[in-house]
Amino acid sequence: MISGMQFTPDQPIGIFDSGIGGLTVANAIHHFLPEERLIYFGDTAHLPYGDKSADAIRYYCLRISKFLLEQRCKMIVIACNSASSAAYDMLLDFFEGKALFVNVVDPLVNAVIDRGYQNVGVIATKATINSAIYRNKIKSANQKIRVNQLATPLLAPMIEEGFYNGNISKSIISNYLEHEDLRGIDALLLACTHYPLIRREIDEFYDGKVAILDSTDLVSSEVKKILAAENLLNAKRSGPDSFYVSDFTSSFEETAKNFYGEDIHLEAKHIWS
Ligand code: DGL
Repeated sequence: MISGMQFTPDQPIGIFDSGIGGLTVANAIHHFLPEERLIYFGDTAHLPYGDKSADAIRYYCLRISKFLLEQRCKMIVIACNSASSAAYDMLLDFFEGKALFVNVVDPLVNAVIDRGYQNVGVIATKATINSAIYRNKIKSANQKIRVNQLATPLLAPMIEEGFYNGNISKSIISNYLEHEDLRGIDALLLACTHYPLIRREIDEFYDGKVAILDSTDLVSSEVKKILAAENLLNAKRSGPDSFYVSDFTSSFEETAKNFYGEDIHLEAKHIWS
């Protein structure tokens, strides 16, 4: 057990993102660990995080984590790459001993190392790319691996507006992936929790010849591994999942369906006042 932490398996797992992109991770965890109760928080009042400063993102993450801890979460999954890059270390320090924290960066980095890729591309928001977190973590594990990063800021809003699996998305995706910095890669990391929705189109662009890694399965496996190691896997669900947003609109609820893959009800939760 992690020193000082006293949890019981029936406590919920908190998951948060700048908005609704992190629902891709929530759904993967829900299917992988169906007996766990999830409390999701999407900070729709402040999205996108990808264009914010690291300081602003840290401030939002602190407040959201505090809210999730008030809901008695045993674990908090930062289902956003921009937030994981800017705030994970700070949250670990600030809430030491109060919950288990999981970020979405380390599972992808570990997969790159374990699977032996040598020439890796990373696509993400500006905040994630500017932090260089993937490059730094991969290089510190293996200096020889080439890491080619590209900010792809149009992709998250494009997906949110429902433009995927069509001509517009095909053209924007090709434009980005044809960039010379991504030539010759053997794996591409989808380092934004919105991108699982365009995974198939990306796979088609590469004709299946480049390995595509996203944060759905890899993060849910990590969550299970940590809970199992801490004897905190829940045997019987203790209640329904909750999905909160800091700013509610019917359009968010419509779009949430696409990210979660099932109908869900979003509830407004004003944690900022
Ligand atoms: N889902 C967020 C991420 O993984 C990106 C969306 C945003 O910019 O807020 O970085």
